[in-house]
Amino acid sequence: MLLDTYNRPIKDLRISVTDRCNFRCSYCMPLDEYEWIDKKEILTFEEIARLARLFVQSGVEKIRLTGGEPLVRQDLPRLIERLSALEGLEDLCLTTNGALLAERIDALQQAGLRRVNISIDTLDPDKFKRMTKRGDLNKVLEGIFAAKKTGLAPIKLNAVVERGVNDDDILPLVEFSREHGFGMRFIEYMDVGNSNGWTSAKLVSKKEIIEKVHARYPLREIGRDKGSAPSVDYEFVDGRGDIGVIASVTEPFCSSCTRIRLTADGKIVTCLFSQLGHDVKSRLRTGASDAEISEFIGKLWRGRTDRYSAERLEALKSSSYDPKSHRKIEMISLGG
Ligand SMILES: C[S@@+](CC[C@H](N)C(=O)[O-])C[C@H]1O[C@@H](n2cnc3c(N)ncnc32)[C@H](O)[C@@H]1O
Ligand code: SF4
Repeated sequence: MLLDTYNRPIKDLRISVTDRCNFRCSYCMPLDEYEWIDKKEILTFEEIARLARLFVQSGVEKIRLTGGEPLVRQDLPRLIERLSALEGLEDLCLTTNGALLAERIDALQQAGLRRVNISIDTLDPDKFKRMTKRGDLNKVLEGIFAAKKTGLAPIKLNAVVERGVNDDDILPLVEFSREHGFGMRFIEYMDVGNSNGWTSAKLVSKKEIIEKVHARYPLREIGRDKGSAPSVDYEFVDGRGDIGVIASVTEPFCSSCTRIRLTADGKIVTCLFSQLGHDVKSRLRTGASDAEISEFIGKLWRGRTDRYSAERLEALKSSSYDPKSHRKIEMISLGG
């Protein structure tokens, strides 16, 4: 088994298939400062599938496709078909903003997609437009219900909670997910990238989110799926579903982090808050053998020392944390 310096195994691969996106969520996407990755630098499906096979041979059990918005990449089912055929892969899922899901879900499912997470931060159409700059809530709702109709399960809904923006949407989102049988996952607002203007004042902590929900719909803690999932899950005491909170800021889970990332332009990244990626594309494009690429992956993972969120919490506690002191890779190119 491939282990890093803290004995964490490699298990989950997040693949950003594109840095393009049809939304401009203020917490994620820098508006003007971003330089788009040149088309020819984006990995082809053949390159992604080859790398995915080598990652699975190194121990990866689960692959999540993300971005940017993965559904703006043409022909995504063609990639899903190849990935779903990988021997040893236990789970293949997609994180999407849902805007194009209604029209694509049948093809995605037929290609072998097993699960989908859909981001939705509010049920108020005007606020939705403000938060995403160009999103249409109705389209996303259509996508969510189209996914439900295909029978894909569980369907999880993701909401980033930002104080003063959508913290009053927590209960409506919980009620919506309970009513329709979706798993609601709240995400603490994180200082990803360099341009989202994160401050700790905008953060709504897991504790606060859980207290708010528990006061209205009593909860019982279940814990992390397989012990290493980012979300701490809770079930409703009345048996009507579950929620979870991804608390990367207030309850970091670095010690059990088994995730590795592949950027749209072919860099391997060992932490969501990394400053640098490791170029695997040039190896692919200059004829490296499978053994050489696997050795590269192994070397990177064995040398992995990342514990950024744990260090951030220590710094936040001593009031010495400055998110701008550490230049990070943007979320849209490395995949959330
Ligand atoms: C980068 S997006 C990519 C996939 C897709 N476009 C979507 O929005 O679901 C993946 C996830 O990261 C989350 N995310 C983006 N910026 C974030 C931030 N600053 N803090 C916490 N989560 C964030 C999004 O809400 C989404 O659930
Ligand atoms: S969170 Fe997803 S939908 Fe929103 S800007 Fe980022 S990549 Fe696009």
